[in-house]
Amino acid sequence: MEDLQRSLTVLSDPQKALVRKLCSLGQSHLFAKWPCNTSPTSRRKLATQLQELDEAYADGGLEGYINNAKRLLSDSREGVNPLEGWEPSVPEGERFDLGTKEFEETESAGRPELGKVGFVLVAGGLGERLGYSSIKVGLPTEMATETCYLQYYIEYILAVQVKYGEGKRLPLCIMTSGDTNEKTAKLLRKNNYFGMQKSQITIVQQGQGVPALMDNNAKMVLEENDSSKIVTKPHGHGDVHALLYTHGVAKRWLSDGIEWLTLFQDTNGLAFHTLPLMLGVSKKLDLIMNSLAVPRKAKQAIGGIAKLKHQTTGEYKTLNVEYNQLDPLLRATGNLDGDVNDEKTGYSPFPGNINQLLFKLDAYSDALNRTKGLMPEFVNPKYKDDAKTVFKKPTRLECMMQDFPTILEGEDAKRVGFTSVSADLCFSPVKNATSDGAELQAQNTQPGTAASGEADQFGAVRKILVSLGCHVETASEETYAGIQVVPGPAIVIKPNAACCPGEYHRLFPTPDKVKISANSTLIVRGSEVTIESLDLDGTLVVDADENKSIVVKDKIVKNEGWVKVADDSSDDEIIKMRGYYILRKEADWIEEKNNSCAIL
Ligand code: UTP
Repeated sequence: MEDLQRSLTVLSDPQKALVRKLCSLGQSHLFAKWPCNTSPTSRRKLATQLQELDEAYADGGLEGYINNAKRLLSDSREGVNPLEGWEPSVPEGERFDLGTKEFEETESAGRPELGKVGFVLVAGGLGERLGYSSIKVGLPTEMATETCYLQYYIEYILAVQVKYGEGKRLPLCIMTSGDTNEKTAKLLRKNNYFGMQKSQITIVQQGQGVPALMDNNAKMVLEENDSSKIVTKPHGHGDVHALLYTHGVAKRWLSDGIEWLTLFQDTNGLAFHTLPLMLGVSKKLDLIMNSLAVPRKAKQAIGGIAKLKHQTTGEYKTLNVEYNQLDPLLRATGNLDGDVNDEKTGYSPFPGNINQLLFKLDAYSDALNRTKGLMPEFVNPKYKDDAKTVFKKPTRLECMMQDFPTILEGEDAKRVGFTSVSADLCFSPVKNATSDGAELQAQNTQPGTAASGEADQFGAVRKILVSLGCHVETASEETYAGIQVVPGPAIVIKPNAACCPGEYHRLFPTPDKVKISANSTLIVRGSEVTIESLDLDGTLVVDADENKSIVVKDKIVKNEGWVKVADDSSDDEIIKMRGYYILRKEADWIEEKNNSCAIL
């Protein structure tokens, strides 16, 4: 101990105090080499990192972190059920099918609200499952136009800003992390913010993560090859609420006249087809938080949204309950069959959470002011032994953005609900490498790969066109890099041409006169484009700048089009993760432009 005291002389007073405190909290192993084996520089380096971690953890610094971790690790070891005492029931919300009167009316009610939305993209995840070498938001959403996710999201926001913003600029906040921040900022700069004003974008960065923990005593871990560095891991997307509070984003947006806030993920190319529908539901049901959900089969491995009532206090909260907790919770509270499908619908009455969230900004901001936006944490260690004393690899505390309802109180806690729409219209994220995706697909689960994400985007647009009455063929299934997809027709409707199903009526006023063959590609950009009558068998690009109008009428297109060529051994990561590239053989173009800026 005396040796350790001597080795502290190179540190500042607060650093010395922190090291002493950590020793008293069972972390002396971090400094075991200090007395003789370390240089002053490496001691200072470790102390500086510890200080940063101490300052970054809002719930009591590292002492708070260690105590929270010990408590949660002990609960995990004992198998404590965090939902003990809560009784689940079906939450408030609405379920829709595309093309119905209810869908159209609710979407129409929500559309004017689009001009009052602030957008929050959570893009701090490592993307380990996908294994892409760069940031996920830089990946193409589809290969016909090669628009990357970040561009697609910005194009959408700019389109609704022009149509519904009444002169207001709609803000975008991006949550990055140490792993994604630099590259995200660079992607934006390089592309001139994809047409957005730089001032519209706020970037908030998650901290370097939280310390990894090696055992039930919450012992922190040093890097194997660098004993002056603590191993850290991401704290989870739940950080977004605290960041929107500490950076004053929610407050600023509220004072700028923004009324809604939507949180969305990094790689869902179907993210916004249903935003006005959600707005319509939130307005009608006066919801503070509305989760976009998909019909979910009973016991399907996707969290179910449930309304929970506490059996003794009578408190309510509507939360995402992990699928493996929902069934036992139902059984334990008198529903002896557990999570079963409703006979009428064939689905569980508990809708599946997909983590696209919409908040009423005033109440959201009030909740942040009261709680600083801190989400409850959980821990999920994988144990090596039956006694649950040894971890397979270090774990850490995490938090999730969908746990926001836990910070709502009283009557506000009841203003939480869902909007359910089938996944083929609203959800197909790109999260998995092809090999894992193929396994999931074999189990009848969405593969979540680059190829399936792209195919599902085209599929969603086809579904909208068919619901209008257009004649759109469906291509036969094809397999690329082990993933089966329906490859086409590939249809890209840019958000300024139509940003939700209700707007497609304007773009296709006489849908019965629109015919698209299975191997076609159609790309449409421009707010004043109208497609009246078209017979497409090949590729057609219709591209108009703002205030330039194009009417496609009596148009027959027959050309060799663009075809997918299988290639799963390409050196190009983007091609390899899809298993194909696009061979652009032939296309017809109809353009009205002020300059030579191209759609592709
Ligand atoms: P994912 O579940 O897709 O996880 O996150 P991930 O961390 O990106 O990918 P894996 O697990 O390493 O393969 C859902 C959303 O939350 C964001 C992701 O960027 C994605 O948009 N996220 C996740 C954060 O912003 N921060 C985090 O700490 C974790």
